[in-house]
Amino acid sequence: MLKLKDKSMIRGCFPILENLYRKHKDEYLALFFQEKDLDIEGLNLNPLLKTGLIKKVNHGFRANVFVFPLSGKFIVCDFLISLHRVKNGYYLRRRNDVWPIFAYESPYIAKKAIVRKDDSVLDLATGSGVIALLCADKASKVIGVDINPKAINFARFNTVLNNLDDKVKFKLGNLFVSVAKERFDLIIWNGPTIATPDVPSKYPIYCFGGSDGLNFTKKFIEEAPKHLSSGGRMQWLDPSLGSETEPKSLDLIRKCWRNENLNVIYEQRIKPNPIYKLYKTLDRTLLSPSKGFARPLWTEPLVGKEYSDWITLLKENGFSHIHAGMYKIFPGKRFKIIRTRPKKVLFPRMNYLPQDWHFLSLSRIKQLLKICESYGR
Ligand SMILES: C[S@@+](CC[C@H](N)C(=O)[O-])C[C@H]1O[C@@H](n2cnc3c(N)ncnc32)[C@H](O)[C@@H]1O
Repeated sequence: MLKLKDKSMIRGCFPILENLYRKHKDEYLALFFQEKDLDIEGLNLNPLLKTGLIKKVNHGFRANVFVFPLSGKFIVCDFLISLHRVKNGYYLRRRNDVWPIFAYESPYIAKKAIVRKDDSVLDLATGSGVIALLCADKASKVIGVDINPKAINFARFNTVLNNLDDKVKFKLGNLFVSVAKERFDLIIWNGPTIATPDVPSKYPIYCFGGSDGLNFTKKFIEEAPKHLSSGGRMQWLDPSLGSETEPKSLDLIRKCWRNENLNVIYEQRIKPNPIYKLYKTLDRTLLSPSKGFARPLWTEPLVGKEYSDWITLLKENGFSHIHAGMYKIFPGKRFKIIRTRPKKVLFPRMNYLPQDWHFLSLSRIKQLLKICESYGR
């Protein structure tokens, strides 16, 4: 957990991070993206040490966390794998780590958010608070909710760091429970949607979406309209499993919202991928990566038929493809689904789970950071 008591100490980290990022970019990226030990001289790093962002090691300083620069803000999250956390030939994952930032994911939804001036916004499954913090540039009030206390701790740290703690608040809770009485102009989320064998105790909270990946999405679709103010909107990134032609989420929406006056826009980001082929490639890249140790998604190895039973279940339920889309829901005169496909393929690869920043070159990291900024234009 990060230390939250001393707000001026947290705010004091901002100019130091900014100076490092602007004037010593390679060192910044080596420390906070590649987790390298660095001997930085001549800079006062005390606030970073005191708040727990970095620590002293034999050869200089080492980052405890990943710090992502985005649109003039700094967002602190976890390294999901650490070069210093290895056991039996694989990187150890922790169940309660705070989801980091991948170039094609959170920055995309954060910068494409359909937020309007003076909106009240709910960022569900907020993690580090990245989407909440970017929405705060236009919104008058933002609430972020997460079920993981460590995520709430990081999100609160990030609001103080970015001097947004007057406008952005965070609540611990499962889906809508902690905001049951409130209504929002925009509900936005990027949540736990990965389909895995149904053993929640063996997967990190940030990804576990149940055997079809739809646990969170199903509950969201059932409950969300009750939490909208009149004219309210919704938006989320959706990597649902489905058939070759449509994601299961679209079927659930059709069944649940057919009597609501909502226009559902589904933007397909890439063509659906056949899942069994994709799972094989993913297993190979996670378990025998070209760089570093194996990095399975589980926190404990699967045993017995946990894996094979899951594949059987998927097949029995007709899941053949994985989709990648963005939902934008607006009020309308009646229920209508509009499917769109961008002219330009933005996301050549669907699955970035194995693409930890640790193993990218500094020039590739800089290129991806530029891509993240370009989403806003
Ligand atoms: C993939 S991470 C994304 C975090 C953040 N939205 C982002 O884009 O960086 C999913 C988040 O969902 C949270 N989560 C999982 N189940 C939840 C639930 N039932 N209610 C609220 N948050 C949940 C996890 O703790 C995690 O922070």
